[in-house]
Amino acid sequence: MSITHTALRDLGIQAVNSGGSTGTGWWSGRNDGSLLPSINPSTGEQIAGVYPCSSDDYQRIVKESVEAFRTWRMVPAPKRGEMVRLIGQALREKKDQLGTLVSLEVGKIKAEGDGEVQEMIDMADFAVGQSRMLYGVTMQSERPAHRMSEQWHPLGPVGIITAFNFPVAVWAWNAFVAAIAGDTVIWKPSPKAPLCAVAVQQICNRVMQQQGYSGIFSLCIADQPALAEQMVQDERLPLISFTGSVPVGRRVAALVGQRLGRTLLELSGNNAVIVDETADINMAVRATLFGAVGTAGQRCTTTRRLIVHESRYEELVGRLVKAYAQVQIGNPLEKDVLMGPLIDHVAVEGYRAALDEIKKEGGEILCGGHVLNRHGYFVEPTIVRAQNQWPIVQRETFAPILYVMTFHTIDEAIQMQNDVPQGLSSAMFSNDVRHGERFLSVAGSDCGIANINIGTSGAEIGGAFGGEKDTGGGREAGSDSWKAYMRRQTNTVNWGTELPLAQGIKFGS
Ligand code: UN1
Repeated sequence: MSITHTALRDLGIQAVNSGGSTGTGWWSGRNDGSLLPSINPSTGEQIAGVYPCSSDDYQRIVKESVEAFRTWRMVPAPKRGEMVRLIGQALREKKDQLGTLVSLEVGKIKAEGDGEVQEMIDMADFAVGQSRMLYGVTMQSERPAHRMSEQWHPLGPVGIITAFNFPVAVWAWNAFVAAIAGDTVIWKPSPKAPLCAVAVQQICNRVMQQQGYSGIFSLCIADQPALAEQMVQDERLPLISFTGSVPVGRRVAALVGQRLGRTLLELSGNNAVIVDETADINMAVRATLFGAVGTAGQRCTTTRRLIVHESRYEELVGRLVKAYAQVQIGNPLEKDVLMGPLIDHVAVEGYRAALDEIKKEGGEILCGGHVLNRHGYFVEPTIVRAQNQWPIVQRETFAPILYVMTFHTIDEAIQMQNDVPQGLSSAMFSNDVRHGERFLSVAGSDCGIANINIGTSGAEIGGAFGGEKDTGGGREAGSDSWKAYMRRQTNTVNWGTELPLAQGIKFGS
């Protein structure tokens, strides 16, 4: 039996799988809808199939999630943490297999697939600790014999809609924090990565069963936008966390806003690395290579623009072109391969269309630029000499295309870096403390993430992840992101015998 077959078997993946579950007690039936195929992007062949949820399945899932929430919110937070700890433990045991499935289903190299599962494990550990630290603050009341404080209560069932490129980790960022906060979660994964979601649900189901629960973690795979819209409009879900494109994010924001619900949006990035005249070029080359070529350019945090001081252009770009030539492209499960395929033929068409537009603009292709003539969705990582204001450079193309441009002064570089609609991640390579501090100052990068001598991608879970402007403003994972999954309540207690009013108001006798 091959490694991939063993991994699929160990994860409970069958040739045909149900796409909805609230626990071991319920998996959705195989309705009349057509089977959603999971395609291996390295070969274009089907790995297995999943029956998507019907509207009735969805209703059942939400009903159970709402009921489970009533019980779950009463469980002490550290006990809720215990459930997440056990899931983290199960993930440790299945790390290799789940990493292999991520690699197989979305085409990232095995090291990145494993890394993604590690990110889930780290997130579980973080959430377990956080379960004892859902701190509120106390305030000094202006009135005598009054005490003011705030506390945080669970919010309700949370809808989590994730993208194909991080088919398991982004769910974990949201789900583990939501669960320790006392919320239940309903996951609608990308229809391009349904098997990863089924595998994670199997793990959650086992742990929920051991602990005597169901409906804390639910799965609802849908391949039609109608079901996703139903979810987004559902008033029973006070929070929708959405990771995906800007146009869909705008629609989600409008629909959830209409019902005055909350959103956590993690949309497109257009991330730049600035390399100044003092930079350590070895570090800049390695970080740019990982940032631009890693995950075949399909991270929200992928390095898409390289803004280099004119005095370092020849050296940096020369070294990058050499490094790109060494990148082994192929089956992401094979050792030494650094870049796998794009997710599907639509992504390949996006790559092709971007290159056509670049050529029309007069962009000079410094290396790459071709779709590979083989099975699967493989393209060459590409470097283009470009200008920041070109419409193609202003957009996020989810492919390994790096735009290079030069600058003269550091202010010019920072302005170029900020001069795009998106605001997710940014980086500067510099050994000049003034340049670095300027970049991090109020007049510096306008992104949610700004790094010095580290690339734009590969963020740790301990910080809050997310960005500004068209990136959507949401923050997930570490820091105090947990607050988004809870409702804040301000409490004032009068322990005296008078009833003084605030602001010194006298009312009646
Ligand atoms: C994403 O691309 O949606 O910083 C998430 C990174 C990862 C997360 C990326 N830890 O690249």
